[in-house]
Amino acid sequence: MDLGLKGRVCAVTGASGGIGLEVTRQLCDEGARVLMISRDPEQLAAMAEVVRAEGGTVEVVVLDVTDDFAGDQVVAAAKQGFGQLDVLINNAGAARWRDLEDASEADYRFQFELSVMAPLNLMRAAIPDMARRGWGRVVNVSSTAGKRPSSQMPDYSVGKAAQLALSRQFADRYAGDGVLVNAVCPGPTASDLWMAPGGLLDQSRDEAGGESRDEALAAVGSKRPIGRLASPEEIASAIVFLSSERASYVSGAAWGVDGGTVPVII
Ligand SMILES: NC(=O)c1ccc[n+]([C@@H]2O[C@H](COP(=O)([O-])OP(=O)(O)OC[C@H]3O[C@@H](n4cnc5c(N)ncnc54)[C@H](OP(=O)(O)O)[C@@H]3O)[C@@H](O)[C@H]2O)c1
Repeated sequence: MDLGLKGRVCAVTGASGGIGLEVTRQLCDEGARVLMISRDPEQLAAMAEVVRAEGGTVEVVVLDVTDDFAGDQVVAAAKQGFGQLDVLINNAGAARWRDLEDASEADYRFQFELSVMAPLNLMRAAIPDMARRGWGRVVNVSSTAGKRPSSQMPDYSVGKAAQLALSRQFADRYAGDGVLVNAVCPGPTASDLWMAPGGLLDQSRDEAGGESRDEALAAVGSKRPIGRLASPEEIASAIVFLSSERASYVSGAAWGVDGGTVPVII
């Protein structure tokens, strides 16, 4: 299937690893040009080189998406590098395992900045031009925890639920202008967020006490009907489809890409 992404200009936050890097690769495979965004300059430059070596056309922007002027910077960089911005993927995110009693106000504020204020800022900067041209796509990367709060990630769950509400607001406002805004809700995915030393897998092991990494991984997988974690590529495929011409009648959705984790039919 031709996704109709050839020549489109896409901005991907959190593009230096995990889901965002795979989104970048798949967009480039479709002939799109990508602005890769994250904070660590060396890691971002290294991953941009990997994508270029695979034939992709990418530029990088080093920034923290929670900075006040992040949206303006992203739009300016897209215009400078590629002329305009057609697709925005709000993917940058972070999570820590903690009990409800241990989540501080600062933890909730951190998640609100990252999952709500940053996507809000980027959408406000990017969408008006898309609307004027009559074509645009935005995908907000939320989580199963945004649909069914995770008892182990209270602050993250609240931020991701609010992100879904934000996404729907923009979807309703801009669908008539040709700008389709959607969200995806991934289940646990074998990116650095889970798999890096000290990541969610190790944090869950600390909780269970004495499990091996393999045992902990099997335990996380067994809680899903599909029986395992997702790969970043599997989540990226849904995001890239929603970014594409082919998703031309999808607006305001919050697609579960979770191996059946959230047990509802809407
Ligand atoms: N993995 C999962 O199980 C899972 C499940 C559901 C939802 N999600 C969501 O999927 C998205 C991607 O997660 P992932 O698993 O791919 O995570 P990851 O492997 O930890 O990658 C996170 C990416 O975001 C960047 N980033 C983090 N904070 C940032 C900030 N303030 N400004 C700019 N860039 C920032 C990181 O680079 P720097 O640190 O260099 O900035 C990195 O490129 C997140 O929104 C996450 O909540 C993940």
